[in-house]
Amino acid sequence: MSKDEEISSRMQKLVSRIEEHAHRYYVLDNPVITDGEYDLLMRELGDLEKNYPHLKTPDSPTERIGGQPLPYFSTVEHTVPMLSLDNAFGFSELYDFNRRAMQGEDSSGIGYATELKIDGLAVSLRYEEGRLVRGATRGNGFQGEDITANIKTVRQVPLRLPQPVSIEVRGEVFIDRNDFNRLNHERSEQDLPLFANPRNAAAGSLRQLDPRIAARRPLKIFVYGAVGYDIALPTHLELLQFLEDLRFPVNPYRLYCEEIEEVIAYCSRWQELKNILPYDIDGIVVKVNSIASQDILGNTSRSPRWAIAYKFPAEEISTRIIDIVVNVGRTGAITPVAILEPVLLAGSTVQRASLHNEDYLRSKEILIGDTVIVRKAGDIIPEVVRVLKEKRSGDEVKFDMPSRCPSCGTPLKRLPEEAAWRCLNPSCPAQVLERIVHFASRSAMDIEGLGPAVAYNLLQSKLVKDVGDLYYLKEKKSELLDLERMAEKSSMNLLEAIEKSKGNPMHRLLHGLGIRFVGERVARILSENFRDMDLLAAASIDRVASIDEVGPKIAMAVNAYFAQEETRDLLERMKTAGVNFKEPSLPLAASELEGKIFVFTGTLPSLSREEAKRLVEEKGGRVTNTLSKKTNFLVAGDKPGSKLERAGSYGIRIIGEEELLEMLN
Ligand code: IVH
Repeated sequence: MSKDEEISSRMQKLVSRIEEHAHRYYVLDNPVITDGEYDLLMRELGDLEKNYPHLKTPDSPTERIGGQPLPYFSTVEHTVPMLSLDNAFGFSELYDFNRRAMQGEDSSGIGYATELKIDGLAVSLRYEEGRLVRGATRGNGFQGEDITANIKTVRQVPLRLPQPVSIEVRGEVFIDRNDFNRLNHERSEQDLPLFANPRNAAAGSLRQLDPRIAARRPLKIFVYGAVGYDIALPTHLELLQFLEDLRFPVNPYRLYCEEIEEVIAYCSRWQELKNILPYDIDGIVVKVNSIASQDILGNTSRSPRWAIAYKFPAEEISTRIIDIVVNVGRTGAITPVAILEPVLLAGSTVQRASLHNEDYLRSKEILIGDTVIVRKAGDIIPEVVRVLKEKRSGDEVKFDMPSRCPSCGTPLKRLPEEAAWRCLNPSCPAQVLERIVHFASRSAMDIEGLGPAVAYNLLQSKLVKDVGDLYYLKEKKSELLDLERMAEKSSMNLLEAIEKSKGNPMHRLLHGLGIRFVGERVARILSENFRDMDLLAAASIDRVASIDEVGPKIAMAVNAYFAQEETRDLLERMKTAGVNFKEPSLPLAASELEGKIFVFTGTLPSLSREEAKRLVEEKGGRVTNTLSKKTNFLVAGDKPGSKLERAGSYGIRIIGEEELLEMLN
């Protein structure tokens, strides 16, 4: 054995012993050596790594103290999307879920695994041959951020597994309530801003660019699932047991329930007991236990049909409405908003609550000065649930919706079938401001440094009158520097962020345009189908409406948007400035085609079916005639059949000839 081999073998041994003891200490809470002995092992490993840096492995436990700060997080694609869960509010919605899940089952109960719904942040941990190679945030479910360096600092996350398995484990990172209080106490002593709740503290810590800071935050994790493994595990609870055997922390309060009634009993018990836990939970997750049944039920594009989250009723509190004001949204909708006497609710101070629209206000008979019950469900803006009429003094005043837009003075209109009063002036300053802020927001074009205050200044100074002008701002650098609070550095950063946004994929731009009914998800679906903004702009209502999950309502809104003169002008200016209009296809490595199943529908523009089949097979792919859950790609040509629609509902990726050729090259 050479010297290097000898050292390396000693280091390997140290790494596995340290990992084993870390598991005993941080996961099982049952150490068998003293802290001093553990420190000795760490010190020996650290010394060896210092003297033989070329022998150090990236999964070394010495990485847990945090490496070099990163300039930014890189974006990663989730090979299997990180879906979210449908919610059940109340037990009757659990019965509905049970009925849907039982479809086609003749047994007495389908069998569920129930778990606590941990209120933290979803992460995905990828292991290759037993080594942690990547940690990622959920992001929008399709793409997240690479937070490997921070994940390594979470002591409960194994860096090396006791078996050389490849698997992508999914779980929730969180902070205990006690640790959270301690953290905030420390921060108050250092005059640092406090975190609103444990969830925000966990999110803030995971998104630290400096892993040494993340390492000092008391992050914990419970894992609740996995994808991309090839071990036969017939049930979800067996999967959880397997994960526990791999040394992951799995929440102990999981239970098998044969019937939905047992599930309901479990839910009501935890509704009562949730405060005895040292961490926050916001509900119960119910999953069909059999993996085979899960596969049969499948997923919608948003969430699995085999699981549901039972949400605990939202916390409520009473306070007084000091005033009612109106807010002008980016579509011109006028929303009345209650200004409240500040109250602490579910971990944060609430001082505004949405009153939705005039009908809501009238039906709840809400007056200025009323004492009301407010509620906060999840992260959404608090709302007024009901008025405590018995607390009225007689001094309360009725609120009337304004007849003119508070921003531009245009008379407001209420269109038939709509609940909202609207300002129909497309150049209303309040709307333009909201549109710019939305365009620049993280889920759209992600232009850092372009928040409401900067957008307001840009509009006031007339440097910008719509989002298209952002891309010509660099020609007005000196005027930009004249703006209040715009120092050299922040102007440069802003211009750089704008420049960078030009290269965004089409779906970000499309979402950013703020077309009615086109949110993040619809923008993605449309972009993946058309792949080019110009093609979408030219598409007929019928063509757009034929896409799975895109109904006539969306199609008409899209069509109307692109038909406007202002839209054409806006897109033209963006294009000239070099803004990308295309949706890139996800590049696939050749090996990723191996074993993939392709189905064809319709006539391809240049290839015959035989040619296409041969090309796919040359790369190790398979071509079949019938669509099934196992199909990976549907290649659609002209005049596609019903397969197109079915593929959409199965969540199968639909591609055209051009993309197929790109993939094969
Ligand atoms: S399963 C495909 N189980 O809730 C199903 N999720 O709204 C994936 N969460 O993004 C989720 N505890 O962040 C599952 N025991 C649990 C969970 C859990 C918390 C979170 C998770 C997910 C969100 C879904």
